[in-house]
Amino acid sequence: MTIHLTRDGAIAEIRLDNPTKLNALTLDMMAALADHLDALDRDASVRAVLVTAEGERAFCAGADITAWGALDAASFARDWIRDGHRMFDRLARLSKPTIAVLQGHALGGGLELAAACDLRVIAPAARLALPETGVGIVPGWSGTQRLMRLLPEPVVKEMAIFGRRLSAERALALGFVAEIAPDPRAAALAIAARLLETSPRATEIAKYMIHAGQGEDGPAMIEALAAGMAAATADKAEGVAAFRAKRKPQFGGA
Ligand code: COA
Repeated sequence: MTIHLTRDGAIAEIRLDNPTKLNALTLDMMAALADHLDALDRDASVRAVLVTAEGERAFCAGADITAWGALDAASFARDWIRDGHRMFDRLARLSKPTIAVLQGHALGGGLELAAACDLRVIAPAARLALPETGVGIVPGWSGTQRLMRLLPEPVVKEMAIFGRRLSAERALALGFVAEIAPDPRAAALAIAARLLETSPRATEIAKYMIHAGQGEDGPAMIEALAAGMAAATADKAEGVAAFRAKRKPQFGGA
């Protein structure tokens, strides 16, 4: 497996591990990532998730060009782009706070992966870019959408159309990254450690509220929050008890 999941207490780490290919994403890696996210989403003992990568040259140089380059147009659209979107959505909508640890290249799908996290920490020499048009395609894992909610349109155009790279300093000035650190993983761990002092439910609800306001699956987030509120009422307990006892419920409004 080229994506590993490890745990240190309440902090989990998803680690891309294909450094000789600059951690370029394959379908197998995407499937592994989806499995890890499913496991983490349901694990109440996990409070924070770091997304990291092996090697200093790259966080991730994007989608594996050799792999997708061999697909026909229909498979590319369905198996690569649509299924990839599902995985990126899963990451973005994970119930736990996520932190991307960026070093070296974060390109194309690598930048989109970072954008799907809640917070980013970056090494001084890291570079961000959307080089897809240079290989004849377009950003396909929400680089023209989710990324647009995190960066100003001119900056996304600079990268997606003009092929310009974003430095760590500029990413910080734009608010895309929270911190530049020589050891970004250590900085991310320190941020995660502070998170352990907060309420898990409160951070989860805050994340959903921010997403609902920003168009990250807003209607589903609002329904999930409303369901949580309704399920915590005495009326819900009474409704279920009455159904089981085959009697009329006596709702008290509490
Ligand atoms: N897909 C598949 N393989 C990739 C890759 C990608 N996106 N990015 C890098 N690799 C591979 C290279 O083919 C090379 O493999 P090899 O050693 O078997 O030849 C290895 O990773 C190292 O990359 P290399 O190009 O030799 O390193 P470099 O330091 O000279 O250049 C980059 C680094 C990132 C500038 C260059 O690799 C690059 O432009 N990659 C493609 C980035 C891209 O277009 N991403 C969007 C894809 S949709």
